Amino acid sequence: MMTLDISSPMTLPCGVRVKNRIAKAPMTEGLADPMNRATKRHVTLYRKWADGGAGILVTGNVQVDRRYLERPGNVVIDDNGGLDELRAFAAAGTTNNTLLFMQIGHAGRQTPRRVNPRPVAPSEISLALPDAAFGRPRALTAEEVEDVIRRFTHVATVAKKTGFSGVQVHGAHGYLISEFLSPLANQRTDKWGGSLENRARLLRETVRSIRAAVGPEYPISVKLNSSDFQKGGFSHEDCLQVVKWLEEDTVDLLEISGGNYENPAMMIGARGADEIRSTTVAREAYFMGYARSIRAATNIPLMVTGGFRTRATMDAALTEGDVDIIGIGRPLCVDTDAPQQLLSGKAEGAIAYEQQIKPSKGALGWFCLNLIRIADGLAPDREMTGDLAIAAYLANEEETAAALEGRRLE
Ligand SMILES: Cc1cc2nc3c(=O)[nH]c(=O)nc-3n(C[C@H](O)[C@H](O)[C@H](O)COP(=O)(O)O)c2cc1C
Repeated sequence: MMTLDISSPMTLPCGVRVKNRIAKAPMTEGLADPMNRATKRHVTLYRKWADGGAGILVTGNVQVDRRYLERPGNVVIDDNGGLDELRAFAAAGTTNNTLLFMQIGHAGRQTPRRVNPRPVAPSEISLALPDAAFGRPRALTAEEVEDVIRRFTHVATVAKKTGFSGVQVHGAHGYLISEFLSPLANQRTDKWGGSLENRARLLRETVRSIRAAVGPEYPISVKLNSSDFQKGGFSHEDCLQVVKWLEEDTVDLLEISGGNYENPAMMIGARGADEIRSTTVAREAYFMGYARSIRAATNIPLMVTGGFRTRATMDAALTEGDVDIIGIGRPLCVDTDAPQQLLSGKAEGAIAYEQQIKPSKGALGWFCLNLIRIADGLAPDREMTGDLAIAAYLANEEETAAALEGRRLE
């Protein structure tokens, strides 16, 4: 067994070198201006992260269609200009020999009602959630599905042109591509639904179209669920077949996660999957049990995200050989230099703030707000309560949504 640790460099199949094995996981920033363009706040935040030591930074999801945002403050790339802002964003995130991958997404039926009360999805099936935050979607027409592929390709082309080091297609967490993969959300009877081959067609055609546009030497990553962890949903067996296809489609890095808004396994791991979490590594990093079977199915380099906190666990996972890149999310909303601290041996672990936030239902807002504080040049607020975080987060989202509407009315 080859001994690897978080400081070992590696080379992706396209030939691009990564300086170490730590990646900042994609985290939505909500920092765009009312035209949904990148801003100086992205520059401040990504300069901090690039200085923080990770080999790869994956951006929060950049949207292909302003009608279907994941959040009002998303960056959108359509015909809204903003190329100089993207160049500044890319320059900041690639300092310190860091790779900056742009995550590209379409929110599908997980578009908040505040953004669009009538989102789109593979089929007209609402999210099974008790609250009214999401409207009933309409099914995309076949022409519109082709348009989605064109939009993803356009955004990837702009990412390359403006200096991003690579792109990541968001195929996880219940957004549009993940909805197409799921038999629960996708009940189409045309070539985009039914068999797994048909459900995976949108993801595969998107990847192939991007590859044709960016050439063989530009990194393309895909974020994919190891499973949706829902009865009748995209299963682990489905995932194992899709990763084999993605290898044919020349993907350079597969980020493994899981879950969606109906079942947020990406944040807590899969309920009822304890049998697969029997090893020390898998107890901390909750998708590692799935990484082993994915590794057996494909040679695509694997990044696994979810729960990694201690250096010992990260090094053990790399040495066991089931993962190539360790994804870290939440700790970096507070400690932007956590990778450097781990690499230098100053810290034995990143801090699991999610275990400290009370009440815990405010945790997501807490992380989002601290990320915004850093983007504004402020120190993170570690003492914020969960209640305060929820209120301030909702106020921030409302203000951003109102600014978008104000711009539309002009
Ligand atoms: C504030 C926040 C925003 C996130 N936004 C995204 C996103 O835009 N795209 C994505 O694929 N995952 C997103 N995630 C999920 C993370 O990439 C990651 O899968 C999750 O936080 C688990 O990793 P961790 O335990 O290291 O935090 C987000 C997570 C957080 C906390």
